[in-house]
Amino acid sequence: MDQDNRDWWRRGIFYQVYPRSFQDSDGDGVGDLKGIIKRLPYLTRLGVDAVWLSPIFPSPMADFGYDISDYTGIDPSFGTMEDFDALIAAAHDSGLKLILDLVPNHTSDQHPWFIEAKSSRDNPKRDWYIWRDPAPDGGPPNNWLSEFGGSAWAYDEASGQYYYHAFLAQQPDLNWRNREVRDAIYDVMRFWLRKGVDGFRVDVIWHLIKDAEFRDNPTNPHYRADRPPHEKLLTQYSTDQLEVHTVITEMRGVTEEFDNRVLIGEIYLPLHRLVAYYGNDLRGAQMPFNFALLSTLWSARAVEMIIADYEKALPPGAWPNWVLGNHDRPRVASRVGPAQAPVAAMLLLTLRGTPTLYYGDEIGMRQVAIAPDQVRDPFEKNVPDIGVGRDGCRTPMQWSAERHAGFSTAPPWLPLAQDFASDNVASLEAERASILNLYKALIALRRRLPQLVHGSYEPVAAHGDVLLYRRRNTEGVAVIALNFGAVAASVSSSAIGFSNEVLLSTLMDRQGEKVEGVLDLRANEGVILGPHQDD
Ligand code: GLC
Ligand code: MG
Repeated sequence: MDQDNRDWWRRGIFYQVYPRSFQDSDGDGVGDLKGIIKRLPYLTRLGVDAVWLSPIFPSPMADFGYDISDYTGIDPSFGTMEDFDALIAAAHDSGLKLILDLVPNHTSDQHPWFIEAKSSRDNPKRDWYIWRDPAPDGGPPNNWLSEFGGSAWAYDEASGQYYYHAFLAQQPDLNWRNREVRDAIYDVMRFWLRKGVDGFRVDVIWHLIKDAEFRDNPTNPHYRADRPPHEKLLTQYSTDQLEVHTVITEMRGVTEEFDNRVLIGEIYLPLHRLVAYYGNDLRGAQMPFNFALLSTLWSARAVEMIIADYEKALPPGAWPNWVLGNHDRPRVASRVGPAQAPVAAMLLLTLRGTPTLYYGDEIGMRQVAIAPDQVRDPFEKNVPDIGVGRDGCRTPMQWSAERHAGFSTAPPWLPLAQDFASDNVASLEAERASILNLYKALIALRRRLPQLVHGSYEPVAAHGDVLLYRRRNTEGVAVIALNFGAVAASVSSSAIGFSNEVLLSTLMDRQGEKVEGVLDLRANEGVILGPHQDD
């Protein structure tokens, strides 16, 4: 029982809520905590175990909450601390864990710490941020670039120095080489852990420590003109420094002052560098987010290779995880196309490792076109017209065919998808073979078959557009066959073993079908097979 509880994040299915866009309760067109409380029954019906909320803290919203001006409060647009206390109690009562977003790399420029630090060169908080003298020519101290465009250094006229910001100038980076900064953020963690939150997703964790000498970053020989300008440089000196692992181990230690909490890290790095974030002796993050599926070419062979590379790169004992979408990347249904979205769902929920769902992907939400005058994302505003905008994956959840999709009584802060009248929770729950009911069936099956959680991953050779693998443990075996192609395909029984039955098809119409010889897959169909139970 205790062991079970300690393992919850291995067994669990995570669901990311982008609070501004989930459910509005007060008619201001922006989602809020009371709205989330109202929708908890939906999440338990879906069958997920843990909810991760993107930032809900006081913020000028220059980067929609990833610019925090008070780490231990609630932004009024989301509600009050009483609302938060009610949310965590309601979530726990429904058997849901609650994960918060921790944004330790930078604060808002409106945070009192930065206001103090900026006030003079000898302010005690000066060293909490990263200040450097201008280069001899008066320009920025080095060539580092902001991920949101332009130099990563902003000049402060009054004190004659530059401060570093990996993102917006309104998001100055904290100096994680400073002990007081570390202790201040660890106290923030304790504040929320004491309130009962079950863990953190740590924003841009691989950014925390920068080169002590602030050396220039090398140029990226593979830069393409259609990519955002910060990719002109490799981030050799500005991110992923060895000392970051000491910090993460300290953070892990803070979570372990409490029982059964989880530390998840946001990390965009190649697999071999990503897995270092499990830490020495697995004392780092329990789940460094694995984003490999967010950028892969969508083909059976490419995905098969990613799984193999990841499985191979994992340190002994490290627990895997998989992600199909988040608030920074185009919607999966648009990336792979609506016909393949169910196949992607079956992949996510049958791979070895904890799945994280992004709100709305379970109803097949697509990237919404954003007209120029509707753009809210600062990344798109700073780096226009090359498709980096993130508003299109942050549009309001489509609950019903009602006005404003049941999201709000007011016009929402971002436009709704045009197809919301047909693609919404209410209509898809009523449609037997909808993607939403497929998600529910997949989650239920993952719960019913321990091999889908704890079983080994065994690749099985297959041809063309078919991806084939087994999940096996002492309790049983399941075979997963996914057709990434838009034409029918078949798999021979020598590959899948004899006497199987279909446990689930992405088309939801083959449950119980016996498979004795060849397994025929229709276009864009995935199936899960289990040993045929003789009655
Ligand atoms: C992370 C967040 C992203 C944010 C950035 C800066 O990548 O996911 O939304 O803009 O950090 O905080
Ligand atoms: Mg609201």
